[in-house]
Amino acid sequence: MTGLDERRLLRFPDGFVWGAATAAYQIEGAVAEDGRGQSIWDTFAHTDGRVARGDTGDVAADHYHRVGTDIALMRQLGLDAYRFSVAWPRVQPTGSGPANVAGLDFYVRLVDQLIGQGITPVLTLYHWDLPQELQDAGGWANRDTADRFAEYAALVAERIGDRVNLWSTLNEPWCSAYLGYGSGEHAPGLQDPATALTAAHHLMLAHGRATQSLRASLPTGTNVSIVLNLAAVYPASDTPEAHDAARRADAVANRLFLDPMLRDGYPADLIEDTKAITDWSFVHPGDEAIIGAPIDLLGLNYYMPAIVDVRRPAAPGEERNPLSGAWPGCADLDGVAVEGPVTGMGWPIDARGLADLLHRLRRDYPPIPIMITENGAAFPDKVDGGEVRDPARLGYLREHIAAVHGAVADGVDVRGYFVWSLLDNFEWAYGYEQRFGIIHVDYPTQQRTLKDSAHWYREVIRANAVDAPSGQPQSG
Ligand code: FCB
Repeated sequence: MTGLDERRLLRFPDGFVWGAATAAYQIEGAVAEDGRGQSIWDTFAHTDGRVARGDTGDVAADHYHRVGTDIALMRQLGLDAYRFSVAWPRVQPTGSGPANVAGLDFYVRLVDQLIGQGITPVLTLYHWDLPQELQDAGGWANRDTADRFAEYAALVAERIGDRVNLWSTLNEPWCSAYLGYGSGEHAPGLQDPATALTAAHHLMLAHGRATQSLRASLPTGTNVSIVLNLAAVYPASDTPEAHDAARRADAVANRLFLDPMLRDGYPADLIEDTKAITDWSFVHPGDEAIIGAPIDLLGLNYYMPAIVDVRRPAAPGEERNPLSGAWPGCADLDGVAVEGPVTGMGWPIDARGLADLLHRLRRDYPPIPIMITENGAAFPDKVDGGEVRDPARLGYLREHIAAVHGAVADGVDVRGYFVWSLLDNFEWAYGYEQRFGIIHVDYPTQQRTLKDSAHWYREVIRANAVDAPSGQPQSG
């Protein structure tokens, strides 16, 4: 059953945008074509032991050669919009200098074909594929990378600025900085908390500088945004210590990114909490004003909540793990696992985190339109008789879309929802083992098969409504 239950429809406002998202390195393949340079993810994936089973993005979903097929699938789903990322090393193979016309033209054709099919292109400039030459000069630990990024942004804007109305500078700077330089799970694979915080600042500076350069190149009225994976952080108990642990984790995961952009600079408690690691001298006078350049919309990616506490022995039946290097300054805190359903990644399924984040953004920050730019789940899907039954993903999407509906009904300004992901793809350090697509990809044949969740999502888009999870009160 992939239709909607008509008795339980929760309708969205007219004009609500329904989309699907992907990222360049995860789907494109064609890593040596049309002058593309090498990125940190090529290097990382080709380094032994970094990615499960030695998988790489060399071929991925071969989207570079199958754009026409993939756009036809988007049309079949009835997508209003498609969120993709531009590979920096296709545009500037070494991270600086003039545009590589053949590489940039791939995105010109993509955008033109999308528009031709009535699908709105939503463009992200950086989804983690830094040109390797810039890494050789220090990557995001080097302040100059922020200037290089602003130059790259201008090259893309000058070429396709007239056709794309919604731009995001960065996807999830949290991951680039903390997984790349803190825990080492992502490229470039470094493990140093001070460098992770330095990288986070340079990424935010890059966002601010790129926002300035986009404004200078894009037609008036074009929307500029950033995409953040905010963490829904909860204390493990009602003790003052657990609340303080949650405050600290929130500062490093959320307020470090939100406050300089939407309020007034880096939070004082964050600087105090991390003073044993860094003196923050990488922040120069005037940087926070650049980061605070006005944006038009905030992209929010949400997958799961995080429950934290100070380090203490686990209670019977409780599972605790030290917070990893992905939480700089929080080495004395634990993440606490709670009972409940999880995805194939082992990520807890709890849509309340999404609802709480949306309400919190409205409560704590100046008004800004929000787009859910990623949300979804991986499960070990199989094609059986030409079909893919994925009730767990469908249930995950239903619950989370219903949570978005609840926030919209409460007056939170959410403009749209993008499922992660259109296609199964290269899931970073997990390689092809984890399937997030609503469309199944059989990698040896590159055959695409719509999963049940894709058929259901098409009905959601058509109705501009989701059928409420059972147990949830019906509303209009
Ligand atoms: C997000 C990334 C995206 C994908 C999903 C599962 O953090 O932006 O590329 O890997 O997680």
